[in-house]
Amino acid sequence: MLLLFLVVTACLGFQVKGEVVSAPDSYGFAISSEAQLSLLKLKETQVNNLQSYKKVLKIHLQKIKRAIRHSEDLLKTTTNFHSNLIFGYKVLRHIYNDWPQYFRLLKKDLGSEEIAVSQKLLTQQPTSVDFEESMGAMRRLQTVYDLDSYAMAEGFIDDKDKNIRSWRTDECLILGLMYLFLGHYNQSEKWLQLALYYYGDYLSPEELKMKLWNYPNLLEALVEANKGLGRYSEAKKYANELLLINPNHTYMLTQLPKLKYLQSNPIKLTKPKKYFKLQKAICSKRYRRKSGVLVCHYVDWTPFLKLAPLKMEELSMKPHISIFYGFLGPKDIEVLKNVSRPKLQRNEHLSANCSCKIGNLFSSSHDVVRKVNELILDITGFPSKGNEMVEVINYGIAGNYNPDDTAQPRKHNKANAFIFLGNAGKGGEIVFPSRDLKIRPRKGSMIVWENLKKSVIYHQCPILKGNLWVANKVLN
Ligand SMILES: *[C@@H]1O[C@H](CO)[C@@H](O)[C@H](O)[C@H]1NC(C)=O
Ligand SMILES: *[C@@H]1O[C@H](CO)[C@@H](O)[C@H](O)[C@H]1NC(C)=O
Ligand SMILES: *[C@@H]1O[C@H](CO)[C@@H](O)[C@H](O)[C@H]1NC(C)=O
Ligand SMILES: *[C@@H]1O[C@H](CO)[C@@H](O)[C@H](O)[C@H]1NC(C)=O
Repeated sequence: MLLLFLVVTACLGFQVKGEVVSAPDSYGFAISSEAQLSLLKLKETQVNNLQSYKKVLKIHLQKIKRAIRHSEDLLKTTTNFHSNLIFGYKVLRHIYNDWPQYFRLLKKDLGSEEIAVSQKLLTQQPTSVDFEESMGAMRRLQTVYDLDSYAMAEGFIDDKDKNIRSWRTDECLILGLMYLFLGHYNQSEKWLQLALYYYGDYLSPEELKMKLWNYPNLLEALVEANKGLGRYSEAKKYANELLLINPNHTYMLTQLPKLKYLQSNPIKLTKPKKYFKLQKAICSKRYRRKSGVLVCHYVDWTPFLKLAPLKMEELSMKPHISIFYGFLGPKDIEVLKNVSRPKLQRNEHLSANCSCKIGNLFSSSHDVVRKVNELILDITGFPSKGNEMVEVINYGIAGNYNPDDTAQPRKHNKANAFIFLGNAGKGGEIVFPSRDLKIRPRKGSMIVWENLKKSVIYHQCPILKGNLWVANKVLN
């Protein structure tokens, strides 16, 4: 088990030896699609840096080759050393003049610039918090939507986008270890099998040497997962394979008799803890699209709306839930995103329930914000006092926005206006479980709902595909 922990912790981020790396706790790479864009830039910088390093090495290698060639050529001619003493002079001169040059060549610090760049990039890499959040998000998606590991790894969740290659053994192994750590042996075993399956993709042992883990680590994990599942003969199979590779593996040497004992005296297995139960129930259920009597009409009760009436659907009367189509146009949406970008921040109050970053905007931030504020207040009839703020939300992996109504003290909102600033590919729906209603993100449309006393009536499902921005306005 020790090695397993080593692998997990090694994969959970490591520090550069001897160098004090001062990085923040998190860059929020997992919780914001905007932040992920900078990861791509980071990756590009690293690739360019390695290319540049390769060039330096190549030039150096050419010099070394030239030196070898020069010396060898000289040696060839010295075969007649005994018959011609002039060659003695040539060798002497060569050794006297050239060897110090070779020494300098060998001593040369190569790519110090590139090394410095690489070191600096390390301080910008995802932190352990980012990494854990990304794994947590994968687990949430898989659990809430009951995703099959094989389908995920083969990219079927992305409709087999041709640009996305299937997963690598590393990616599967880490998820397998995470589930193992959580005691979800079934799920763990599936991911570890996939890791084993993709392991064959590494054709070169050299490539494997660069990994933080090795094949025996994978076998160890498979032993543990199968043991957890009560499949003792499978576990023994992997343990024996491991001992064949490393006959002195002390942990496995003690495990093998235990496995043999368990095989004839099986113990009662504990059921794994269920996570995301509520969310799973809400998000995997089928909903009637609309509830009750549907009223659909144009809203034109203010001078501005008379000029550009909005189509409104009343989805529920009690509590009031309405949707306004085409509330915000593409240009205004872009401005809203632009204005909020520099303000995006992790929200500490809802952190565990909002894989997102939020930017708080006010009417003074931009004319578009003022327009949005005024329109919403006109439509809903809420007073402008105390209702100046609009939150723009940018989601990350498995992003959703579910304020925790149990966290105290949190002021109760009377109503919410929620504008979709994009279409998520899959997921991200707003569900009103009590009204049997699920609303898909639709760019530019706004949902307005009235909250019941002391309870949040909606739930947002995690985004499964694509990315999403929304604007939320709390009304009081
Ligand atoms: C693993 O899954 C099988 C069926 O898929 C189930 O019968 C078994 O109870 C599960 N075991 C654990 C430990 O969850
Ligand atoms: C295992 O241990 C024995 C004795 O300690 C040693 O002779 C042998 O070389 C070790 N084998 C491996 C594969 O490390
Ligand atoms: C938003 O910002 C981008 C990048 O800075 C810019 O190209 C674009 O014109 C801006 N859009 C609007 C509507 O302001
Ligand atoms: C997240 O939301 C659930 C209900 O949806 C709640 O039980 C839980 O306490 C919330 N967690 C946090 C940290 O807000």
